[in-house]
Amino acid sequence: MEQTKVNAPDAPSAPVSSHTQVAAARAVSKEVAIRSNGTGVFYNTDQQALHDVSLTFHKGEVAALIGPSGCGKSTFLRCLNLMNLEIPHCRIVGSIDYHGVDIVNEKINLFDVRTSIGMVFQQPNPFRKSIYDNVALALTRHGMAANSTNLDDQVEEALRAAVLWDEVKDDLKKSAWALSGGQQQRLCIARTLALHPDVLLMDEPCSALDPIATRAIEDTARRIADTGICVIIVTHNMQQAARVSDTTSFFYLGEMVETGPTERIFTAPEDERLQAYISGQFG
Ligand SMILES: Nc1ncnc2c1ncn2[C@@H]1O[C@H](COP(=O)(O)OP(=O)(O)OP(=O)(O)O)[C@@H](O)[C@H]1O
Ligand SMILES: [Mg+2]
Repeated sequence: MEQTKVNAPDAPSAPVSSHTQVAAARAVSKEVAIRSNGTGVFYNTDQQALHDVSLTFHKGEVAALIGPSGCGKSTFLRCLNLMNLEIPHCRIVGSIDYHGVDIVNEKINLFDVRTSIGMVFQQPNPFRKSIYDNVALALTRHGMAANSTNLDDQVEEALRAAVLWDEVKDDLKKSAWALSGGQQQRLCIARTLALHPDVLLMDEPCSALDPIATRAIEDTARRIADTGICVIIVTHNMQQAARVSDTTSFFYLGEMVETGPTERIFTAPEDERLQAYISGQFG
């Protein structure tokens, strides 16, 4: 398969993997997973960090959010499962439509929202417990642990979904802290997937990882999306966005400036700020 080129600041003219072309050709489900409508965020009551973002994400899709530091990517991601509400004096305006419910403005159970819309952070943060217990505890705390035989199956299923099972199946009682950084991140993904979310938010999940571990997380993200989950990933790494995502949205100074199929965003960007960003003129 012929490879297309991406003009990325960290490696100009780096080839997009054939995997991306397969992903681009793949029919992403037309079913909407989550949608923001005119979403904005104010910190400290009146400092507006995010302006009027309207984006639709579909099931089975990997969506990348890119843009320079401080432009609102994490702020937007944290709107999607209402994590911003944990920040004092932070206010969300507009709406977020999740299965027909406006989770910003309707009375909803935050615990349920965060079970269904899982999140993985920049730094892997497993509990100081065994590999097995990290997943089992998540299930228990959410009242989703079946009897002990089935619990074993649930743990295995989650570890398989996070593409970690083969590496840890003989060491389930080992401390999670003894795993490599990339394995720890996949364990955190397993912990989240155990709760059967249909949206998975990832905020720079590879920033603490080496290239091999990074590729493993990208592969995992792709496989998770292939099961029908919507994966939304924030990344500074242009090549990563090109490799792993179906759609890319570019944020700049608190606004979502341009969105579209990833290949189009990288090969024919329309907005001149996006053109400058992907050609490495600023980062
Ligand atoms: N908890 C907070 N309190 C006040 N202001 C905040 C808070 N979190 C973020 N901001 C501000 O909101 C703006 C957007 O920040 P955000 O963290 O969303 O950017 P980002 O695109 O994720 O950046 P980075 O790529 O560096 O992670 C910045 O001006 C930042 O200073
Ligand atoms: Mg951020």
